[in-house]
Amino acid sequence: MTTPYYQDDLVTLYHGDSLELTEWTAADVLVTDPPYGVRYQSGSMTRATRTLLATVAGDEDTTARDAALAEWGAKPAMIFGGWRQPRPEGTRHLLIWHKAAAKPGYRTSAWFPAHEEIYVLGDGWAGKPHQSVYTTTQAQDGAQGLVAQTGHPTPKPVPLMEALISSCPPGVIADPFAGSGATLIAARNLGREVIGVELEERYCEGIARRLSQQAFDFSALEPITPDVRSSGWPRHDDETGLFKEWTP
Ligand SMILES: C[S@@+](CC[C@H](N)C(=O)[O-])C[C@H]1O[C@@H](n2cnc3c(N)ncnc32)[C@H](O)[C@@H]1O
Repeated sequence: MTTPYYQDDLVTLYHGDSLELTEWTAADVLVTDPPYGVRYQSGSMTRATRTLLATVAGDEDTTARDAALAEWGAKPAMIFGGWRQPRPEGTRHLLIWHKAAAKPGYRTSAWFPAHEEIYVLGDGWAGKPHQSVYTTTQAQDGAQGLVAQTGHPTPKPVPLMEALISSCPPGVIADPFAGSGATLIAARNLGREVIGVELEERYCEGIARRLSQQAFDFSALEPITPDVRSSGWPRHDDETGLFKEWTP
């Protein structure tokens, strides 16, 4: 039995290799963002972000993703990825994370990437239908960006993760590639149990710090675009700053 690196009423975080640890596989829904297998291929990142990305373990290919999915089996899963690599076998739905604040970066061409893919696998997906495109407005790069805020090269916005988790079947969430902890924070904000694993201790430290600093991570919340909000995002409570689960 592995000792958790961090634990509270809802969150359990392990420091280690999720391909060796098994604790996370007992959860009910996988919501994760593994190394994409895109090292050195993106033309949109700043030089600083590219340097950081080179330090994301396992980003050479999709071995870690595919091994984790094989371990997970047929249970429901949401898993991030990029179009340059094959989608996971058994993908049932494709969601898009649209990064409205994305900028061209240091290299210019006719287009620059402003989206990432999220694959939905397994059974049990029901509830109010959502548009398949989720737009966020928080910048990744720059002094105020999420990368600078979290110290992680590929952090996901907490409100995005809250919106995704709001569509998940009930049960404990697993994120075996926890990174900056966005899935863990979002799950806890929604009152859901979550088990995370992160290979790099410096990122575990960051997650523990974010989770300990305050009961809810208000700093990571951001406005969402009205069209997306009206089409099925969790409703925003202006008093608490939190996003609520959708209720009819
Ligand atoms: C794309 S990042 C996840 C970013 C995260 N969703 C966030 O919002 O910050 C992938 C993370 O998986 C971690 N990682 C890579 N291989 C791993 C493994 N075998 N076990 C656990 N974590 C791993 C990396 O250190 C990295 O932090």
